[in-house]
Amino acid sequence: MKKTALITGITGQDGSFLAELLLDKDYQVHGIIRRSSSFNTGRIDHIYHDIHAKGESLFLHYGDLSDSSSLRNLIMRTKPDEVYNLGAQSHVKVSFEQPEYTADISGLGTLRILDAIRDGQEDLSKKIRFYQASSSEMFGKVQEVPQTEKTPFYPRSPYGCAKVYGFWQTINYREAYDMHCSNGILFNHESERRGETFVTRKITRAATRIMFGLQEKLFLGNLDAKRDWGYALDYVKAMWLILQQEQPDDYVIATNETHSVRSFVALVFKHLGIEIVWQGVGMDEMGLVKSILKTNKNAPHSLKTGDCIISIDERYFRPSEVETLLGDPKKAKEQLGWKPEISIDKLAEIMTDHDYELAENEHRLKNK
Ligand code: NAP
Ligand code: GDD
Repeated sequence: MKKTALITGITGQDGSFLAELLLDKDYQVHGIIRRSSSFNTGRIDHIYHDIHAKGESLFLHYGDLSDSSSLRNLIMRTKPDEVYNLGAQSHVKVSFEQPEYTADISGLGTLRILDAIRDGQEDLSKKIRFYQASSSEMFGKVQEVPQTEKTPFYPRSPYGCAKVYGFWQTINYREAYDMHCSNGILFNHESERRGETFVTRKITRAATRIMFGLQEKLFLGNLDAKRDWGYALDYVKAMWLILQQEQPDDYVIATNETHSVRSFVALVFKHLGIEIVWQGVGMDEMGLVKSILKTNKNAPHSLKTGDCIISIDERYFRPSEVETLLGDPKKAKEQLGWKPEISIDKLAEIMTDHDYELAENEHRLKNK
């Protein structure tokens, strides 16, 4: 018999990759979407286009993590074997501007769905396996390097605090009600589907648009922040593996490598044939074209040595910052047999190539 999964956040980066993975494994997939005045299903629309192969097993339902009744209703109606709670207000900088909303959705939302599972029929709470999208942001001002499942948390944002709440509620429901509830403590993971205001995607979008003369400059905040960046598709495989374990548990999912925002910028531009040199300090720092290299890309740019294409903008700094993250995925490797497949170089290449095509199309339309 087909297994059934319910995904909150199915329209997000991870939700879309996870839905594809589960459909490929022959699951029936139910996804919760928010009512929106404009389309918000762009990341999953292609699944419907392949209607015979996959569409018949994908069902979308309106609901919201702020609305217990919709969550309870959907748990009762879909009776899933597995619930993946990926829905969240997931932007750290935005969480400083909307702390209460972030706590409500990313923190209390976890409690609401856990309680909807507990409060359903007895057999459902025993049957359902629950995955919580916990985050390396919980380590914040890191208390040890690298971070493991045993590293104490020190969150540095309303988002990080909300995720710590969700993490502990997940453990509490596991221990108090003997439910199969697990946390994946995922370090940053990116892809060509990444939201465009997260730093990696912001960089690949801007760099490729600069190459086509569609934008002059890229404005960034803290260039020295370091992250352990992996590829989203590798990470949703870990989510699934976590729920296939007989015993619920918590796992760090990371690459065990850390890179600065500055080095990611350099990597992306290098792939586009531009070598960057940094000049100035603090708010006056700039990224200039050092040299133009030969590549197989033929964007019609008019860049020349010395052009300033990266500047600092104070709006992109956070009131308190997570300076460096580095995860140790040893437990996941040993117990789940999981390891990341995509390196940082390959990740930058995948994202840049994808956005190069978008910029090329935009340029073509503009010059028609
Ligand atoms: P994302 O692209 O921002 O997707 C977030 C999803 O949550 C979207 O589908 C969004 O719907 C949905 N959502 C937002 N508010 C909601 C609400 N009130 N009710 C129901 N759904 C709501 O995030 P992601 O990168 O895929 O991350 C998935 C999860 O993993 C999140 O919980 C995130 O906090 C966590 N996480 C991410 C990373 C990472 O590096 N990507 C690392 C660790 C943990 P709309 O499409 O309608 O906005
Ligand atoms: N977004 C953004 N925009 N970040 C910038 C910029 C900019 O212009 N300039 C520098 N940064 C720095 C941020 O200050 C941060 O240190 C780093 O780049 C990464 O920022 P994001 O890409 O926004 O990701 P994040 O690390 O804050 O949060 C992401 O990863 C978490 C896991 O650690 C999100 O996906 C969270 O949902 C996730 O939990």
